[in-house]
Amino acid sequence: MSAALVCAACGTRLRGSDPRTTCACGGLLEVALDGGPRGRALRALCDRRLHGDAGAMGSGVWRFRELLGLGRGERVTHPEGNTRLYWRDAVSRYTGVADLALKHEGENPTGSFKDRGMTVAITHAVHAGASAVACASTGNTSASMAAYAAQCGLPALVFVPAGKVAAGKLAQALAYGARTLLVRGDFDACLRLVREASTALGITLLNSVNPWRIEGQKTIVLELLQQRGWDPPDWIVVPAGNLGNTAAFGKALREAKERGLIARVPRLAAVQAAGAAPFYRSFRGGFRKRFRVAAETVATAIRIGDPASYERGVRAIRQTRGVVAAVSDAAILEAKAVVDAAGIGCEPASAASVAGVRQLRRQGVIRAGDSVVAVLTGHVLKDAESAMRFHERRGPRANPPIAIEPRVSDVERVLRKR
Ligand code: F0G
Repeated sequence: MSAALVCAACGTRLRGSDPRTTCACGGLLEVALDGGPRGRALRALCDRRLHGDAGAMGSGVWRFRELLGLGRGERVTHPEGNTRLYWRDAVSRYTGVADLALKHEGENPTGSFKDRGMTVAITHAVHAGASAVACASTGNTSASMAAYAAQCGLPALVFVPAGKVAAGKLAQALAYGARTLLVRGDFDACLRLVREASTALGITLLNSVNPWRIEGQKTIVLELLQQRGWDPPDWIVVPAGNLGNTAAFGKALREAKERGLIARVPRLAAVQAAGAAPFYRSFRGGFRKRFRVAAETVATAIRIGDPASYERGVRAIRQTRGVVAAVSDAAILEAKAVVDAAGIGCEPASAASVAGVRQLRRQGVIRAGDSVVAVLTGHVLKDAESAMRFHERRGPRANPPIAIEPRVSDVERVLRKR
């Protein structure tokens, strides 16, 4: 097995071991896999590792290492992945889709899907001799990077938009020991700054513009296909911000088909928050024009106006006959309340996928009999403030806390009201 890095913009080809994470022309690099097992042999290899050890091969990322383009060597792994699929009647009723599975990426070690891309990108960074790592983040990437950098002893530098990151995520970055910069600007400004700073200062950039992040995030799709016995669903639905996941899902499906892991490619649905929906606007116009917007949404994880992986996101949607949707903040919060009340729980951005399923079902894009896997990208405790705000105010699905005196009669009064 060998891999190369190919620039999507100018076609430059680099060796897989090259430390660079973006092309000199400014274009995004992509890992091009070459050789290795295919079809039934590849399935069998990945399936054998399923019930294996708790080390690297037990990781829901490294189990698919033949598809990650990284050779042998020490791996920085927690391990990660192995997240569950949930079917819940209440969520199926809410969306109108009976066969709706929720893949809960909030079950990763730092509470979001980011750990999948991070284990691969950090491992590559270590192999390439990195001296420090950096990222811009709406919160989850920084929490993940901080944890993996701590694990391998690399200094970590985090750029987050001041006042726009959920407390749980910020607390993680601080607790894991990353030097954390609160930038007076939005995520898009943070990303521009960290891209400039990492080039100028020789720091390895770990945002999803780093091609190795995309490789790791492909395993969300590979793992869900494996969980379904390699029988693809009709749809895979994912929240979309910077479009790293959308790009990774497209690449995973392309490669899974090429390598004979699956016979048919599911359709992708990328779901944005209506207040942060430049990709949706482009989709509506047949992708003839790229948009940049000033983003605002309660789902701070996807409060992004100028997605870095725009081109590869377009490719993913086109190649899977996919769609892009936009859902209101109210729809996101309602969907979150449904997922939470089913005992599963997720952060607001994650619920965009469930809100998207409901909307696409109502529009007839997703049919009642379709099989759908919607990805929940982050854990409910990432953004506890959002849940508290929702439940403390009056609303049809609100479950406000009730203050009482320490008396049984007060408890009884509360019980009678129910
Ligand atoms: N859901 C959650 C919980 C996220 O944290 C993110 C992105 C997304 C969805 C969107 O994924 O960017 O690949 O389209 N969070 C990044 C961060 C931007 O910095 O943590 P995407």
